[in-house]
Amino acid sequence: MNIGILGLGTVGGGVVNVLNNNKSEIFARTGEQINITHGAVKSISEPRICEDGNINITEDAFSVANNPDVDVVLELIGGTTIAKDLVITAINNNKHVITANKALIATHGNELLTLAKQKNVHLLFEAAVAGGIPILKSLEQGLSANKIELVAGIINGTGNFILTEMRDKGRDFTDVLKEAQALGYAEADPTFDVEGIDAAHKLAILASIAYGCELQMDKVSTEGISDISGEDVSFATELNYSIKHLGIAKKVNGELQMRVHPTLIPKTQLLANVDGVMNAVLVKGNAVGPTLYYGAGAGAEATASAVIADLVDIIKGTVSHDVFGWKQLIEIPSCNPGNVESVFYLRLLAADKPGVLADITAILAKHNISVESVIQKQIDQQNNAHIAIITNSVKTADLQAATTEIQTHEFIQDTIKIIHVENLD
Ligand code: HSE
Repeated sequence: MNIGILGLGTVGGGVVNVLNNNKSEIFARTGEQINITHGAVKSISEPRICEDGNINITEDAFSVANNPDVDVVLELIGGTTIAKDLVITAINNNKHVITANKALIATHGNELLTLAKQKNVHLLFEAAVAGGIPILKSLEQGLSANKIELVAGIINGTGNFILTEMRDKGRDFTDVLKEAQALGYAEADPTFDVEGIDAAHKLAILASIAYGCELQMDKVSTEGISDISGEDVSFATELNYSIKHLGIAKKVNGELQMRVHPTLIPKTQLLANVDGVMNAVLVKGNAVGPTLYYGAGAGAEATASAVIADLVDIIKGTVSHDVFGWKQLIEIPSCNPGNVESVFYLRLLAADKPGVLADITAILAKHNISVESVIQKQIDQQNNAHIAIITNSVKTADLQAATTEIQTHEFIQDTIKIIHVENLD
């Protein structure tokens, strides 16, 4: 089996290193010697984290995707332009393809997987979601007897790192993001991390595998963490919650909800204690109950672990050509975001006058929303009260109508902050 590797950066370099370090175990598992024979890089003179002496290296990635001696192509470049053309070229040349590229799969996966099936080759992408955690294989294989009730995951390490540092060290958002970039966690464009796009890519893929539907990236409602303030973090702590950036996919009344947003989770939940750059995915199946998968969501060798596991599957022939692991895909209507029922956290800055809190709760009550808990932190120098409210479970549209009405009152001094709360019970 000859392997062509496109990209010898963090992930590509990690793949070469893990294949070298674990050569005898991988040989014992597969009975095959895996040779990375060809490699493509942006610049041959760039330093690399791996030994590349036995690899024919070129700057012409298409020459690898077209090379008749290459059996499997590893696409580890990223992005959706050249990477897409290379994957199509390799598949059209009857080569199996393994990619870690979540953006490519989430946006073009329907077309690419159909092409791979037509050509009778595999297109595998375990490394695209939650790095080293074998979450796609778990959903596809280990949980195949279940109706999936919920997938809820911390699937962006950069975002989790930022929120953890803000909570534990009181650090500033921008300052932590810079550190995440320096540590190599963040995407080339870090807005993908902080605005939830990276997590939305991963969630769309998880949902298709969990529920057997086509990818619907445009149906993922996406909100990032860039508006989370230190005050939200400390209010959440006081209310016994932790703020996590979650990707949630669930089927409610036959409709699929796919949403990515900051979420208050009770501190007692395991997910609330997944900190730093780590990822974790909670999957509830109707037979198995709740299951939790935890591990490194990014990094050279952790991601390489998932890439090589796909390679081992191809060599051993343990993987099918079914799209997302389903013989038949199911059409599932998506839920209108206004109909999503959720508990909410509201943070308000209001003039400290008698009756203000009563007015706020009266408007909430008018929209059928009751208050589960409320705290008022302090009166600041401008004589404003900092208030946090946790509601009961309400329809998003009702909450929006109520907060729009509250916002118009003269006693409200700032935009009302709204964050989902999930108890995950
Ligand atoms: N930027 C991504 C993250 C890398 O922080 O999770 C792994 O997909």
